[in-house]
Amino acid sequence: MSDELVELAKRRGFFFQAAEPYGGVSGFYVYGPQGATLKRNIEDSWRDRFQVEEGHREIDAPTIMPEPVFEASGHLDTFDDMLVECPECGESHRADHLIEDNTGIEDAESFPLDEVGDLIADHDLHCPNCDTPLAGEPVEDFNLMFETDIGPGSGQPGYLRPETAQGIFVEFPRLKEYARNSLPFGTTQIGKAYRNEISPRKSIVRVRELTQAELEHFIDPEEDEPPIERVEDVEVRLYPTPEQNADEGEYIVTTIGEAVEEGIIASDWVAYYVGVAQEWYERIGIDMNRFRFRQHLAGERSHYASDCWDAEGEIDGDWVELAGISDRSDYDLSKHGEYSDDDFTVFRQYDEPKVVERATVEPDMSYLGPEFGGAAGDITDALQTLAERDRSAFDGDEVTVEADGESYTIPIEKTGFSVDEVKESGEHITPHVIEPSIGVDRALYTVLVHSYEQDDVEDETRTRLALEPELAPTTVGVFPLMDKDGMGETARDIAADLRANGFDVTYDDSGNIGRRYRRQDEVGTPFCVTVDYEGLEDDTVTLRERDSTEQVRVAVSDLDDILADLRSGDRAFSNL
Ligand code: GLY
Repeated sequence: MSDELVELAKRRGFFFQAAEPYGGVSGFYVYGPQGATLKRNIEDSWRDRFQVEEGHREIDAPTIMPEPVFEASGHLDTFDDMLVECPECGESHRADHLIEDNTGIEDAESFPLDEVGDLIADHDLHCPNCDTPLAGEPVEDFNLMFETDIGPGSGQPGYLRPETAQGIFVEFPRLKEYARNSLPFGTTQIGKAYRNEISPRKSIVRVRELTQAELEHFIDPEEDEPPIERVEDVEVRLYPTPEQNADEGEYIVTTIGEAVEEGIIASDWVAYYVGVAQEWYERIGIDMNRFRFRQHLAGERSHYASDCWDAEGEIDGDWVELAGISDRSDYDLSKHGEYSDDDFTVFRQYDEPKVVERATVEPDMSYLGPEFGGAAGDITDALQTLAERDRSAFDGDEVTVEADGESYTIPIEKTGFSVDEVKESGEHITPHVIEPSIGVDRALYTVLVHSYEQDDVEDETRTRLALEPELAPTTVGVFPLMDKDGMGETARDIAADLRANGFDVTYDDSGNIGRRYRRQDEVGTPFCVTVDYEGLEDDTVTLRERDSTEQVRVAVSDLDDILADLRSGDRAFSNL
């Protein structure tokens, strides 16, 4: 089925491989005249649900960032896939995908490299390109980030961001000021991310340049709670890890409220966004019988996630990851706080000031200076850190600290250690992050696959994309029955009026009317307006609905309002 869809996508301008005049390059796609609008409509709908309705704000950060960002984020060390190369033809393959495609094993990504190598040998897997056996070939980590040089020379390495999220985390010190240092608040971003996939595949499902729609919701994990009541009745189909690990594991069909109460989803924040995502995917026309939320197995979780639930859609019998809803804890902000010179914490004010005990040191520098020379300053810092972390270390006659890789032992009476009572009005905490991360390309592809239909109309097979009116690239096709006797002029005037009122309109007067309907059905246009002889007499048109093919006669003067209601879903066609 997806082959037919990919053919339709290319022929009718939804998407096609980029740079085809130069042979094309895997993993890069162009959204054509239909696809770019469909993509924009999906993004607008996401913005409406995940941003506007939730009260969050959007930013737009650069796609290239300097190397230290990704040292801190962990992507330089860990953002890898498993690579195995064919010794004969030199083709590179994703080792875990080879296993998943050719054995019954579903989660090879979560296995360590050596086990993956063993599985390739045990199952006698061959190169899909030239059929050479791959047993014994090294399986290696391959970092997925695209590297570049910022400015001339190689003095400042940079990377194309592998997730839009880092553009938000890095700017947290400024973003928290805009939020007046008060949690919770959310920042969204829709934009490109780049991953140098070993083997891009499945059309726009696995690409090297992708669009993400991400929300980073910064919360105080002890104080803040999500408005779970808003989604507690939303029904979801869950596939938690215990069910995946069981011999006959099954889905759990439940509500968000129950999933939280029974601890199936550990974080109520993650559960909240699972509910929001369920509603949104349904709104954009994903078939809910081919949709589920699957919890990540421990070995497949990203380095930053303490829990993650993927939204998955079924395509041609395979489950495809559409989104990840992650609890990223304080991982990202702590790392950027550690690696940069800025402050990634927020001040949590206590309801009442608290009297607390604070351990401090005030070393005798007339002893530390002569005794330890230039290391005295670092020793003082190390003593203070130890006093805060473990004051029992100061119980004996001496204390030992590490500074600059050396050990130093200091008599207790020279440390000036003391514990005093102080009044504090609050404390600095590192916010936690809840992240719904949506792949826009995959949402678009799944919407197309799930809306692709063939049925018989007037003894002919027609292909139709049953797109939601909110998303359809063209909301209304406008046709004259024939371009004569004034019908053409009237239809062109109606098209111009509708365009002026913000509708995406296609005007078409070529071929018979049946052909024109078929052309619009195939690109998912939900409504068509036809000007005929009767309409010239009484200022009416026929309005046709794509899915039922039914037609009603409406006054031209009502057309704007009717179409606006149909597009927003405020009115059903059957009620006209
Ligand atoms: N920000 C999550 C991801 O890129 O997978």
